[in-house]
Amino acid sequence: MSASAPISIVTGSSRGIGRAIAEELARAGHQLVLVARDAAALARVADDLTGRGAAVLAFAADLREEPAAADVVAATERRFGAPTVVVNNAGTAPADKVENTTTSTLRETFDLHVAAPLAFARAVVPAMKQQRHGCLLHLASTAGLRGYPFTSAYTAAKHGMVGLARALHAELGQAGIDVYALCPGFVDSDITRAAAAAIAARGKSTAEAAFARMAAQNRIGRMHSPAEVAAAVTRLLRDRPRGCVYDLDQATPGFVD
Ligand SMILES: NC(=O)c1ccc[n+]([C@@H]2O[C@H](COP(=O)([O-])OP(=O)(O)OC[C@H]3O[C@@H](n4cnc5c(N)ncnc54)[C@H](OP(=O)(O)O)[C@@H]3O)[C@@H](O)[C@H]2O)c1
Repeated sequence: MSASAPISIVTGSSRGIGRAIAEELARAGHQLVLVARDAAALARVADDLTGRGAAVLAFAADLREEPAAADVVAATERRFGAPTVVVNNAGTAPADKVENTTTSTLRETFDLHVAAPLAFARAVVPAMKQQRHGCLLHLASTAGLRGYPFTSAYTAAKHGMVGLARALHAELGQAGIDVYALCPGFVDSDITRAAAAAIAARGKSTAEAAFARMAAQNRIGRMHSPAEVAAAVTRLLRDRPRGCVYDLDQATPGFVD
């Protein structure tokens, strides 16, 4: 592994989009720090990537807890050095009608999608400023750009995640730090499969029909795949184009600001 290989933290990398991102970045030669709550699932991904020759540290943490991001960064520094990339991908997508959406659900969703990315930025920006180099990427969503029903906590948090990216982009661009919010529509992962199953369990429709309705809400008219999202992440990290909020759910994906 070359000394100048990127040192990249990927949160939520035990499955779904985060795992696909970790696999892509491993192929691109990044040194990787994987984060999720389930230590056993994370260890399986780490073993797989290590077996393919990647340098990987697995760190189990609940990113809703305040010290977690700082702990991840400290462990990264001990193992590899100062992180040069943080991909804030960890997420959950609570779905319910507004009457059932509690303040504690809203707070927990903001803790994960907004407070954790801010805590990562606080911890990594001083070294990135010194090196005049670094990248913060928020795995946001088209739910950060427009409204969807039955997702008030999630949609509000994803708007917060996009807003945080815009503020960091405005503040840190002059310091050589790129900040992106990548916005896919619905992606074929555990989150969408679980949402379709929950709709089916309420007897409203079959899971297959619910899944197809979600796919039809995407402007591209189909689900994104995790690999497609991971490829977009890898392109942004490699090419560092000018811009901040990148809408993937378009026939021609691109920056919207
Ligand atoms: N799927 C979609 O349709 C879609 C669309 C647009 C954007 N996104 C965004 O893409 C990201 C990844 O979604 P996905 O579909 O890949 O979901 P997923 O398959 O459910 O994976 C979520 C990942 O986040 C981790 N995670 C969840 N809560 C955590 C916490 N409190 N602390 C640390 N890690 C946590 C999970 O591991 P543990 O459970 O072990 O912690 C898992 O690794 C999310 O931010 C989501 O909002 C998804």
